[in-house]
Amino acid sequence: MDLHTLDQLKKEKDCILLAHYYVDGDVQAAADYVGDSFTLAKTATQVDAEHIIMAGVQFMGETVKILNPDKHVYLPDLEADCPMAHMVDVDKIEAMREKYDDLAVVCYVNSTAEIKAHSDYCCTSSNAAKIVAAIDSKHIFFIPDGNLGRNIQSQFPDKEFIFNDGCCPVHDEISAEEIKSLKAQYPGAPVFVHPECKPEVLALADYAGSTKGILKAVADFDKETNIIVTEEGLLWELEQTYPGKTFVFPDMICEDMKKITLEEVVDILNTGKNEIDVDPKLAERAKVPLDRMLDICG
Ligand code: 13P
Ligand code: SF4
Repeated sequence: MDLHTLDQLKKEKDCILLAHYYVDGDVQAAADYVGDSFTLAKTATQVDAEHIIMAGVQFMGETVKILNPDKHVYLPDLEADCPMAHMVDVDKIEAMREKYDDLAVVCYVNSTAEIKAHSDYCCTSSNAAKIVAAIDSKHIFFIPDGNLGRNIQSQFPDKEFIFNDGCCPVHDEISAEEIKSLKAQYPGAPVFVHPECKPEVLALADYAGSTKGILKAVADFDKETNIIVTEEGLLWELEQTYPGKTFVFPDMICEDMKKITLEEVVDILNTGKNEIDVDPKLAERAKVPLDRMLDICG
């Protein structure tokens, strides 16, 4: 289906397509909004269409539904799930709360609705430090991503972080040696790293930030060749934004994001399948830390 026909179909169905930078380029090209996880969560609260298709993994669709309980939210592929979202459990949170009276549980948005419902604040990779800065508690339990927590810790010498051992299998796999070797191959190329990578990889970065942050930072460095250390789906938007520049990626593919296809999006528009739901009581509790994030970050 060509993009013009798809746009007409979306209009007819009063439907907006949101897409994360990691999905295939043809899905990004068809989307009304493409963004990082924070931008997408925020955008979802601002659109007035009755139906929203979230081209991303499960936690992204769930987040959209929690923030918009009255809208119909769909996921192109119900099997596309982020493994990190399941790398912490409620018992662990409860055990930490027993241990520290003043504990603040800061939950990366890459988490299940159940985990969000037991957390105090949500954050994304674009605003984790801003969220922690807004919290008075000394003890911060940062879940589920140990790397993201460790990567912001040095900005808060007065706080005590407790880390979880979850991680993104795609970002965590990249080694400092791989990045050193890319730097040797492309001398002078700035290195842009997503904070889900290990601290020793971030130590080699000229810029560290979310997918959207990386996109913007490329303009600031304005170099012809750039080393991008995140999932390779970001290449599509980088090439649209910076024609003529060269982007080198280590081998980083999120198999779950790659499950999402344009055919599935069209199928939803035609049939209304793959609508997701979150138990209203759970959603109400999970919305509290998400709203706090949106309040702090505007
Ligand atoms: P962003 O917040 O940068 O979009 O990252 C989401 C994600 O899943 C990274 O692996
Ligand atoms: Fe999850 Fe990693 Fe895929 Fe992002 S890249 S959705 S954190 S598995």
